Amino acid sequence: MSAPQTSPQPLVSVEGIHTYYGKSHILHGVSLDIGPGEVVGLIGRNGVGKSTTLKSIMGLVSPSEGKITFQGQAITHQPPHKLARLGIGYVPEDRRIFKLLTVMENLRTGLDRAGVEDARKQALLDKVFAFFPVLAERRRQAGGTLSGGEQQMLAIARAMMLEPRIILLDEPTEGLMPRMVSQIKEIIGVLHRDGVAILLVEQNVPLTLEACQRIYFMEKGVVRHHAIASKLSVNDPVIHQYLGV
Ligand SMILES: Nc1ncnc2c1ncn2[C@@H]1O[C@H](COP(=O)(O)OP(=O)(O)OP(=O)(O)O)[C@@H](O)[C@H]1O
Ligand SMILES: [Mg+2]
Repeated sequence: MSAPQTSPQPLVSVEGIHTYYGKSHILHGVSLDIGPGEVVGLIGRNGVGKSTTLKSIMGLVSPSEGKITFQGQAITHQPPHKLARLGIGYVPEDRRIFKLLTVMENLRTGLDRAGVEDARKQALLDKVFAFFPVLAERRRQAGGTLSGGEQQMLAIARAMMLEPRIILLDEPTEGLMPRMVSQIKEIIGVLHRDGVAILLVEQNVPLTLEACQRIYFMEKGVVRHHAIASKLSVNDPVIHQYLGV
C-alpha cells in the first residue's frame, strides 16, 4: 500500500520496510509518512509490529528491505545516536529511566552532545521544567522514586532535551491512572503546538483520536488502512476491525 501524501515533503517517510528478528519476518513492507509538526497515530492489535516499526525508524533494528527518509535524506541504516542528533527522539515502551540517577541527572544524559553551549543547555532545562513543573519539584529525587506517570514525563522530557523534530512515542499511557493519561495528552498537545511531530503508538483509542491528525492501522506486519482522525469515532467499525474493541 502506498502511504498518503502529506504536504509538501514528509518529515519522515517509511517506504516498504521489511524487518526480521533472526529468522522471524515481522514487518512485511510497512509504509507510512509523518509531515512536519504532524501528530500521527499507529494502532493495531498486540504483536502486529508497532514497536518494531518505531525501532526500525530509530535504527535499533535494521530493515532488510525498504527505505526510511528524514527530511528527504535516506537514514535507513544509520545508528540510533546519529538519528538522535539529526532530530529523532524515541521514548520506548519501558521508558528506560535511570532509576538511581536524579531527575536532573536523567535529563542531563539527554544533553550529552557536542557543541551545545552551557547557556543553551540551561535554557533547555528551564523549558522542560516549565513544561513539567512536577519534574522541577522533584529534580533532586532519584528517578526510581517517581510514580509511573512521572517516569513517563521524565522519559518524554529527556527526549525533548535533544530538541527533536519528531518524537516516536511507544504506548506512553500504558498502566497510568486516568489523571496521568490526561496529562500525557496535554503534553502531546503542547509538543504539537511547539511544532514537534509525533508518531504515537497507543491502545487508548479516545486519546489517539483526540491527539492525532491522522491514524495508520496495522495488521500482521503491514499498514492496511489510514484515516483522518477527525472523521473517525470511537465506535467506528474500522477501530473494531483493527483493534477488536
Ligand atoms: N527482540 C525480539 N526478538 C524476537 N521476536 C520479537 C522481538 N521483539 C518482538 N518480537 C516479536 O515481533 C512481533 C511484533 O512485536 P512488536 O513488539 O513490534 O509488536 P507490537 O505491535 O508493538 O505489540 P504490543 O501491542 O504487544 O506492544 C511479535 O510477534 C513479537 O513477539
Ligand atoms: Mg509494542
